Amino acid sequence: MSNQTVLITGCSSGFGKLAAKTFQQKGWNVAATMRSPEKAGDLVELENVSVIQLDVTDADSINNAVEKTLATFGRIDALVNNAGYGGHGIFEQLGDEHIKAMFETNVFGTMRTAKAVLPHMRKQGSGVVINVTSMAGILGLPFTTTYSSSKFAVEGWSEGLAAEYTPFNIQVRTVAPGAFGTNFSSATDNAVQEGDEQLVAQAARVGAHFAGLGEQMRNVGGTEADPQDVADLIYRCATEDMPVHNVVGADAEMLMQQKNTLSQEEFLNYIRQMLTPQEAA
Ligand SMILES: NC(=O)c1ccc[n+]([C@@H]2O[C@H](COP(=O)([O-])OP(=O)(O)OC[C@H]3O[C@@H](n4cnc5c(N)ncnc54)[C@H](OP(=O)(O)O)[C@@H]3O)[C@@H](O)[C@H]2O)c1
Repeated sequence: MSNQTVLITGCSSGFGKLAAKTFQQKGWNVAATMRSPEKAGDLVELENVSVIQLDVTDADSINNAVEKTLATFGRIDALVNNAGYGGHGIFEQLGDEHIKAMFETNVFGTMRTAKAVLPHMRKQGSGVVINVTSMAGILGLPFTTTYSSSKFAVEGWSEGLAAEYTPFNIQVRTVAPGAFGTNFSSATDNAVQEGDEQLVAQAARVGAHFAGLGEQMRNVGGTEADPQDVADLIYRCATEDMPVHNVVGADAEMLMQQKNTLSQEEFLNYIRQMLTPQEAA
């Protein structure tokens, strides 16, 4: 029985819930945190899993969750910053509140949670921080520019953090998934009805293009992308010697291969043609 402990954010569904179960099956203690613990479902029945309330936009709830985890399990060996959500719309449709809320969760929430856990890892003399980003954090994706920029922010921050915390024996990794069929698309904050007629019409056109593309991306390689692959990669990042940046999903791997093969301009043109309908509404 391992005495290692992981704290994961956003365990009510998707990758977070699967990661909680994966670590538990491997014998870890799991602080399965979520903003609404009534969504825990079968996690409450699992041995060595403690379901704890944590909303990444609320510093008190983060601090309470860290204290509860330490009181229950004594240490935190791995932190998985997984909580996050997406948003669609042409940039002018995305209002200040939309942009601020997105960064509040995806960027500041991630940093805030790390800041609450890192002092304990430093005291222990070891730890690993795993930040779930996205292919949208590696490629500047249209129609989701605030989401994309929030994930770019976390990728860049993680890279600097990885160098900064190596002397403390704390590793930092990112896991950038391609498209997977979790609850993600239904939790997306869409602003496609905002703005003038031209923007609404263009958003409808791009949205239809994206819907087909999402389906295609989830099925690159002939089979539906399995969210368990993301949970498994998160686990590997906690337990194996891994690079700072990691992608997961056949679509993500295919895009990274193109990125590494083509010149920067060629790659941007390739992405533009694939992702954007070529005429405005
Ligand atoms: N699925 C994909 O295709 C995909 C691709 C690339 C990256 N990602 C990233 O993967 C991560 C997990 O997403 P998922 O696909 O598993 O989607 P999901 O099923 O919607 O899970 C997202 C989780 O984040 C939680 N969350 C949202 N805001 C929160 C907050 N303020 N505090 C705490 N928890 C919060 C949600 O909680 P509630 O249930 O309370 O809303 C939920 O547990 C996200 O960071 C997402 O950006 C997903």
